[in-house]
Amino acid sequence: MTRVLVTGGAGFIGSNFVHYLLEKYPDYRIVVVDKLTYAGNLKNLENALQNPRLQFVRLDICDPAVTEAAQGCDLAVHFAAETHVDRSIEDAAAFTRTNVEGTWRIAEACRANRLRRFLQVSTDEVYGSLGPAGKFTETSPLNPSSPYAATKAAADLMVLSLVRTHGFPAIVTRCSNNYGPYQFPEKFIPLIIAQALDNQPLPLYGDGLNVRDWIHVSDHCRALDLILHYGRDAEIYNIGGDCERRNIDVARAILRSMGKPESLIQFVSDRPCHDRRYALDSSKLANELGWRPLENFEAGLTATLRWYQQHSAWLDQTRSGEYRDYFERNYLRRAATLPAH
Ligand code: NAD
Ligand code: DAU
Repeated sequence: MTRVLVTGGAGFIGSNFVHYLLEKYPDYRIVVVDKLTYAGNLKNLENALQNPRLQFVRLDICDPAVTEAAQGCDLAVHFAAETHVDRSIEDAAAFTRTNVEGTWRIAEACRANRLRRFLQVSTDEVYGSLGPAGKFTETSPLNPSSPYAATKAAADLMVLSLVRTHGFPAIVTRCSNNYGPYQFPEKFIPLIIAQALDNQPLPLYGDGLNVRDWIHVSDHCRALDLILHYGRDAEIYNIGGDCERRNIDVARAILRSMGKPESLIQFVSDRPCHDRRYALDSSKLANELGWRPLENFEAGLTATLRWYQQHSAWLDQTRSGEYRDYFERNYLRRAATLPAH
């Protein structure tokens, strides 16, 4: 029986990955470690929490008790992080603590428990910004712009140093911009959807011409699954959507699908350190493990829009912070216990 430690499993990508694992591997057990910051939401795991193969542990990855939480696990996928660039510009303290110190702590906990593999889930933002042409490969220099990206780069280097120093069996993955269900509505696509649903202005930073390489979260989960099981230790793998879109075009596409006017778009002052363009070369992953993104962006965006429309209660509660009350009522006792082995 394989036991997988998933940090940050109540967040956007982490919760999608937990659902994916539970469905794909009927004999796997999963231990989710999550602090439940503002971005963590147990509603993202609602049905999964009833599954006896899932154990939820409310814990900060900076807490030395993570060593106990990792006991008996075979594999680890490390999602837990502070993830919003704008927040890191306002105050990077939590980013430094969770993304750097927390990554060191959880990696050491996995090393102490002799896990067979550790995936450091990282981001294309560590490479910085691209001009109009070219793509980042795994050997592109690290050149982070924002405090968020700098802490992720530091975390990657920390994990790779444990690989070199101690032979820690770890892999770093770097993915482009994800979209899909359960994404916290401070991020661009769910924010634009939520604002448009309420007929509120859609804030576009700067000229709206910054480009992101979008990938559906299900394609990211499939790539992580392949790398977790068949990737090579000590390697870095890029995971890109091969789908570059300008922000303004994404906003227009959402408005079109909803039958809302473009006049809702409002240009606002630019984000400092706003990277102009991201694009990832994922040919290493394609050549070694046969992965490629399957979800078409336009279809995936429409399905995502439909998901948020059908989950208006999730959206409202997430935006109002009401999910916190839900958590207190339903899960606090269950969440407070460490897994029994
Ligand atoms: P998210 O913000 O939706 O979720 C983060 C989760 O981590 C939350 O559940 C939160 O409660 C938890 N967490 C935060 N600090 C913690 C701590 N100290 N201890 C324990 N848990 C803590 O993030 P996401 O968008 O799902 O991103 C997940 C990972 O993937 C991150 O490492 C991020 O850097 C990386 N990533 C994200 C994207 C993207 O487009 N969203 C792209 C590439 C890589
Ligand atoms: O590239 C991967 C990264 O993608 C992840 O590592 C990060 O965790 C994730 O937050 C995301 O970072 P971005 O900064 O690219 O995502 P965000 O959703 O914040 O913004 C996407 C683009 O939209 C970016 O060019 C900024 C712009 N934007 C964003 C917001 C929130 C706006 O124009 N208006 C907005 O209100």
